[in-house]
Amino acid sequence: MIERIQQIQTDIDAYHFDEKHQAENFRLFYLSKKGIITELFEDFKSCSVEEKKSLGSVLNQLKKSAENKYTEQKELEESQKELNQTAEDISLPVYQFAEGSLHPLRIVEDRLLEIFYSLGFDVSEGPEIEDDYHNFGALNFAEDHPARDMQDTFFIAEHVLRTHTSSVQIREMEKGKLPLRLVMPGRVYRNEAVSARSNCFFHQIEGLYIDKGVSFADLKQTLYYFVQQFFGKGTRVRFRSSYFPFTEPSAEMDIWAGLDTEENRRLTKGTGWLEVLGCGMVHPNVLKSCNIDPEEYSGFAFGMGIDRITMLKYGITDIRDFFINDIRMFKQFAGV
Ligand code: DAH
Repeated sequence: MIERIQQIQTDIDAYHFDEKHQAENFRLFYLSKKGIITELFEDFKSCSVEEKKSLGSVLNQLKKSAENKYTEQKELEESQKELNQTAEDISLPVYQFAEGSLHPLRIVEDRLLEIFYSLGFDVSEGPEIEDDYHNFGALNFAEDHPARDMQDTFFIAEHVLRTHTSSVQIREMEKGKLPLRLVMPGRVYRNEAVSARSNCFFHQIEGLYIDKGVSFADLKQTLYYFVQQFFGKGTRVRFRSSYFPFTEPSAEMDIWAGLDTEENRRLTKGTGWLEVLGCGMVHPNVLKSCNIDPEEYSGFAFGMGIDRITMLKYGITDIRDFFINDIRMFKQFAGV
């Protein structure tokens, strides 16, 4: 009997599990009621006392090693089954995705518009190719008035590439629905030499609020709110009187950038103040050209350059960097 036990032990040690030889096959063959080891125990009962003494522990050990081998394999099979049930195959290598980002001008435009949405402004857009009337005439630029030279214009036959988003004000007022509270983002064009600080196209957001009893105080408060939201609480602001044909009175708004860095001294030409936008009360002639009675309605307007504001916000020193599409620059805006 001892030889049988030893033979079975050798077989068990050499037992190799595979698709056809799984834990359950092993159990049936060795450990079940009709299994070889159970049979051995049956035979053991009829052995003499002497034999029992010498065989008992060997037989028990055989059973133990078979049971261990069985449970080990059973656990392995169970964990493999679990793995197969999960949706992802965690053993597959992952794909490497490059992280994209919005364009910095888009990020800033979105943020600016959001601030005005929170004040109840809606958004509107107009065409980039305009007629002279909407870009100049209706905005109170007189024929041959030197003010037209303020903005070097690209002409396309009878049309112009709009030099500012103020043309969209006219298109909105012409629709004849009042009151109006709008922000109007878009690209504008000027026939200017391209340099680090100026480009032949850039981006603006125009603002317009027309209603009964709108005052310059409303304009100041709106812009003051915008500055605190965008540039941070406590940012200092100043209004300087200015001239635009389509507003009266007109102003430009500066924010305090400070003089503490070389960059700020350069940007502000040594004054510490940075011009952010032009604004004013909509000129009565402009209202009239859109069939709005200036005795009944008044309004304010403003226009700001998105490119400049973005350069300021992120310390970008060359406006051309926005358009050379260098992925190393845009990568820095992922998740901003
Ligand atoms: N259109 C002006 C420009 O491009 C900016 C501007 C100034 C817009 C005053 C306005 C305004 O609406 O009221 O330089």
